[in-house]
Amino acid sequence: MTDVPTDLLDRLRAHGQDHVLAGWQDLPRARRAAFVAQLSAVDLAELAALAARAHDAHPPPTDLAPIPVAPADPSPADLARGEEALRRGEVAALMVAGGQGSRLGFDKPKGMYPVGPVSGATLFQLHAEKILALGRRYGKPVPFLVMTSPATDGDTRDYFREHRFFGLRPSDVIFFQQGTMPAVDAATGRLLLEEPGKLFLSPNGHGGTLTALAECGVLAELKTRGVRHVYYFQVDNPLLKVCDPGFVGRHVAADSEASSKVVFKEKPEEKVGVFAVVGGRCGLIEYSDLPKDLAAAREPDGTLRFRAGSPAIHLFSLAFLDRVTSTGGLPYHVARKAVPYWDPEALATVAPTTPNALKFERFVFDALPLADRWLAVEARRAEEFAPLKNASGADSAETVRAALVAEHARWLAAAGVRTGGHPVEVSPLFALDADALKRQIPAGFQVTGPTHLR
Ligand code: UTP
Repeated sequence: MTDVPTDLLDRLRAHGQDHVLAGWQDLPRARRAAFVAQLSAVDLAELAALAARAHDAHPPPTDLAPIPVAPADPSPADLARGEEALRRGEVAALMVAGGQGSRLGFDKPKGMYPVGPVSGATLFQLHAEKILALGRRYGKPVPFLVMTSPATDGDTRDYFREHRFFGLRPSDVIFFQQGTMPAVDAATGRLLLEEPGKLFLSPNGHGGTLTALAECGVLAELKTRGVRHVYYFQVDNPLLKVCDPGFVGRHVAADSEASSKVVFKEKPEEKVGVFAVVGGRCGLIEYSDLPKDLAAAREPDGTLRFRAGSPAIHLFSLAFLDRVTSTGGLPYHVARKAVPYWDPEALATVAPTTPNALKFERFVFDALPLADRWLAVEARRAEEFAPLKNASGADSAETVRAALVAEHARWLAAAGVRTGGHPVEVSPLFALDADALKRQIPAGFQVTGPTHLR
């Protein structure tokens, strides 16, 4: 096998993975070099161990207790504390946007999806404008960390550049890429190819964020900038309050290492992970792992016992991120997926209709139990959580737009303005919240049709 480095060849053979080299002689030179680089980056021993464990039984979680949740509204002192942290430039916003958005079925990064109910603004634009408005309000720019993956990186950077970073200083927008993991055949553990001379790789999950922050030098850069807290959010929720000062204040007051927002579940079957105290630490149990009897258990007042659902909004202290990333990454979870692949021995593409492959992903919430001090704070669902996941039905563009319109109608009502049923969208650059809207809205303002306040 000419020009495959001997050590690589030996490793592939030792792990029973040398099938990927079938047809090697027919690969163009450049492809061979890229393929060698791809294969060399794979930890074959780790992959073998993960594939072997994929078939292990998954015991249900034990020793769970409901998590105490701080009320949604902060005290004036906590609010002031959070505002002070923003004024000092101690908070960065971290948006994870590396997912493939497969359920949405949109061929660009999800952040480029237009969700503004009147403006048609994209998720990226809305988040960027919130961060710009926040920096203006507190007189200090908020560093905006944008995590992409190989699937979304090029389009995301181009999009920000084409839109002049939505008014942000380019040096305050820090892009970095998460890692990837190969997919393997579920029955044999053998590496799958996307095409000849190319592994089938997928993003390594939002939990890959933490390792990538360290490996790409972002943590070091944040330290230089004097950042002490990182607000983590997902690109698909345009309703969230980026770097919410009341949340920051409580995190600071509690000297918390990892704080999380919580939305209360109302029905046992809602598909959100739930927080619980596990052995004295903060844990998040995936909805599929929560035993049915626990999911349905109720308190004497009728509320669900395990109702602390996760909208995937966290605040991490920089020192915690440093510690977690210097002591190895988070564990991998296994998903079974239907993955089309190139069979190098049969010289054909195979497109299975049932799951044939194992994919490996890290989940960011696996960092939570590592925190010695943690905090959970209520977020009112209607005010902070409207994720875009699906092309239609629940969590679709339609429900996201409706949630934005409803929230902005509440802000207007608080300012004494009736919308008369017309959709009104408030640009973050016009007002970031209900109080700001009240101050900004001209006296006697009337809504006579769909309106974009900007
Ligand atoms: P989801 O798990 O909902 O995935 O990610 P998704 O890509 O948005 O959609 P599906 O499941 O393929 O339909 C929640 C958030 O985590 C990010 C996504 O971009 C989204 O903001 N994410 C997910 C990453 O950044 N990297 C990943 O590897 C996975």
